[in-house]
Amino acid sequence: MQQHTHTDINLSELINKPLEESRQGEALAELPLETATIVNGRHFYIESYGCQMNFNDSEIVASILATEGYSLTNNYENADLILLNTCSIREKAEERVRSRLKTLTQMKRKKPQTLIGILGCMAERLKKSLLEQEQIVDIVIGPDSYRSLPALIAEAEGGQKAVNVLLSREETYADVNPVRLDSNGVSAFVSIMRGCDNMCSFCVVPFTRGRERSRSAYSIVAEAQNLFDRGYREVTLLGQNVDSYKWQHPETEQTTTFAQLLEMVAQISPLLRVRFSTSHPKDMTNDVLHTMAKYRNICKYIHLPVQSGSSRVLQQMNRTYDRQWYIGRIEAIRQILPGCGISTDIIAGFCTETDDDHAETLSMMEYVHYDMAYMFAYSERPGTLAARRYPDDVPDEIKNRRLQQIIALQNQHSLLRNQADVGKVFTVLVEKNSKRSDKDLCGRTDQNKMVVFPRGQYQPGDYVEVLIESCTSASLKGKALGYTYP
Ligand code: 5AD
Ligand code: SF4
Repeated sequence: MQQHTHTDINLSELINKPLEESRQGEALAELPLETATIVNGRHFYIESYGCQMNFNDSEIVASILATEGYSLTNNYENADLILLNTCSIREKAEERVRSRLKTLTQMKRKKPQTLIGILGCMAERLKKSLLEQEQIVDIVIGPDSYRSLPALIAEAEGGQKAVNVLLSREETYADVNPVRLDSNGVSAFVSIMRGCDNMCSFCVVPFTRGRERSRSAYSIVAEAQNLFDRGYREVTLLGQNVDSYKWQHPETEQTTTFAQLLEMVAQISPLLRVRFSTSHPKDMTNDVLHTMAKYRNICKYIHLPVQSGSSRVLQQMNRTYDRQWYIGRIEAIRQILPGCGISTDIIAGFCTETDDDHAETLSMMEYVHYDMAYMFAYSERPGTLAARRYPDDVPDEIKNRRLQQIIALQNQHSLLRNQADVGKVFTVLVEKNSKRSDKDLCGRTDQNKMVVFPRGQYQPGDYVEVLIESCTSASLKGKALGYTYP
């Protein structure tokens, strides 16, 4: 699902900047990749849009290209191959990619031999038509076809347009060890499943990313262990709906559930933090909550998209839960995991939404007091159930007014939630220098709140006890009291 994403993604600092802003000429500009055994003298540049899953997919693509001898560049003008890993979740996401392609058209006039590839959800959604609409594109490749990228590059070098948008029921890239692009060396994403079978009526993901399939639990644990051995201290397990993770051992036929997988990863080391995203209210079990309670290193934070507070709208969205059920899940979290951070996704102005439905969304927000939310105006996506069944009948003006109300209320709640942390001490895993000043470090609490504090003797990767002294609606500020593990 989503722009969850949305959290601060390190990768973006290297590869998701507008081209003009990319840090040209810096040390990172040419990066021989860790899995490269041979170097072919060619360079690729990759930019990612959308969800965390897409950013992690770019790391898989980088690994596949590294094995072929490619090096990464963050200066697209030096690249032989420019890749855009795209998102289709809302119309605006696609518009951003189209405008990026316009910039690249000028570059390609100067350097016509540069190949341009469109990866990800837009490639899958638009398929061949993308090549007709966007003349400068040479390669179109969907999320399940990245292994065929080298073959497609060869085809495109021969002057042909190359396309592979086959979706798979099996592909999980389990054996591909992602190259960590622009990593802070502390936190990394690990994909545990691909695709989605839920068919929420507004959502294009089941069409662009295909059927749900779970990756081998062993390969997940091995990847997390490898990250820990290399000094990483936090992994985020990624799936569109992690609660429906289910992997069957090919020989013993024993199944591993998400709660069991979580436990396996948590047991790697008490010093490895485990996060996950995204949970689905219909599938999130108490087992998962009890496993979270059992391990200090499983972060007490749940992203639980509500989408709407109105049972009638939820039914139209095909979310398969209602308001009461969702409230029951929040109560279970509060009871089993006191102090757990909770965030959500909300869509304003879905088809047929009335003022009363909207009021129910606001009242749900009042009930939960989310720590954080990703909030969107409904954007009709061609081919989805909603596009086929329901008219997009809430005028833009009303959609936007409702969205602004939702955002304003969430800002109040985020501030209240952060204010409640002032005066308390939290364990923070240090990630990097603060954006504002090199004198400060930043890292997250268990509850996924960003904390900024003076550097002192601390470094990225340290666990530090921090006393919170002040806050805004976006972050906490404090002072370090000492190492968590002396
Ligand atoms: N319009 C607006 N928001 C959408 N989302 C998914 N599809 C749409 C759409 N068509 C939002 C949902 C989802 C998040 C990732 O993006 O809130 O949880
Ligand atoms: Fe889309 Fe629903 Fe699947 Fe999330 S759970 S990716 S919103 S269909």
